[in-house]
Amino acid sequence: MSGLGEGFGKVILFNEHFVVYGIPSVAAAIGDTTVAKVEDSEEFELLDNRPETPGYKKEKLEQQKDSLNRIFKAMNIDVEKNPVKITLEGDLLAASGLGASAASCVAIARALSKHFNLNLDDEQINNVAYEGEKGYHGNPSGIDNTAATYGGVIWFQRKPDGNIIERIKLKEPVEIVIGNTGKVADTKKAVAGVRERKEKYPEKYNQIFEEARKLVFDARNALEDFDIRRVGELMNKNHKLLQEIEVSSEELDLLVEIALENGALGAKLTGGGLGGNMIALTPEKDLQRRVAGAMEKEGYQVIKTTLGGS
Ligand code: MEV
Repeated sequence: MSGLGEGFGKVILFNEHFVVYGIPSVAAAIGDTTVAKVEDSEEFELLDNRPETPGYKKEKLEQQKDSLNRIFKAMNIDVEKNPVKITLEGDLLAASGLGASAASCVAIARALSKHFNLNLDDEQINNVAYEGEKGYHGNPSGIDNTAATYGGVIWFQRKPDGNIIERIKLKEPVEIVIGNTGKVADTKKAVAGVRERKEKYPEKYNQIFEEARKLVFDARNALEDFDIRRVGELMNKNHKLLQEIEVSSEELDLLVEIALENGALGAKLTGGGLGGNMIALTPEKDLQRRVAGAMEKEGYQVIKTTLGGS
């Protein structure tokens, strides 16, 4: 018996970090995915064959074990009684900022559901993956596992009585470039840092958070109207707000600068920040190639993909 499962990688287009506090956000799945295979085995085994930013898998190993135990618990699976071998593969880079942990949680939950004939639907898979994400993040908002489960472009708002999850339709796919700083970052630490500073400087942070709340409604309109220029402008503003709450980094800012200098309509960090990845909005293949090439020339790894239809 074996089961296969898949989870999407994602980028956050608007409001990472702010989303933790109930402010709406927008995420988009990318074409790259993680695939999990579950097979019967003599003893529990995990084989992680995902491509990675060097050092990522080693650094996340303890969090990954914690996450797996939470997934087994959420699914009522006793791996001592029913040992399995889990193999992780797929083309999604295991790197900070691309939802690699969430994609793997979704892929594993789906593969376990198949292997043990549990027939979990997407909502149940999403809930299990959320439990798994706690191993990595502590107190995740749920945006990453939601994007990894459902794919597409998603409006997400964390609510105590049930999250709001809505699909945003794009008129056509839009090219983006994802630039990788090459630095592994700890989302848990980034989220904790924001909380500390928010408590220390409540007035300053409340003002920034209010701006983020207003901005994301404009962003949703711009996406739905397919006003890509406006989407880019709002991404730039969102990056400034993220700089103000101190989750950007020198490399992220440099990649944003390279992208804008080479014609990107907007650029910002994506995910937890402090390293990891950024995204640049580059409609049309030529612009995408130019921006990607400029980043590569400076020695950074890039992914060329599309939003809303890869
Ligand atoms: C990480 O991809 C996104 C954060 O907003 C954390 C979260 O939402 O759980 C930084």
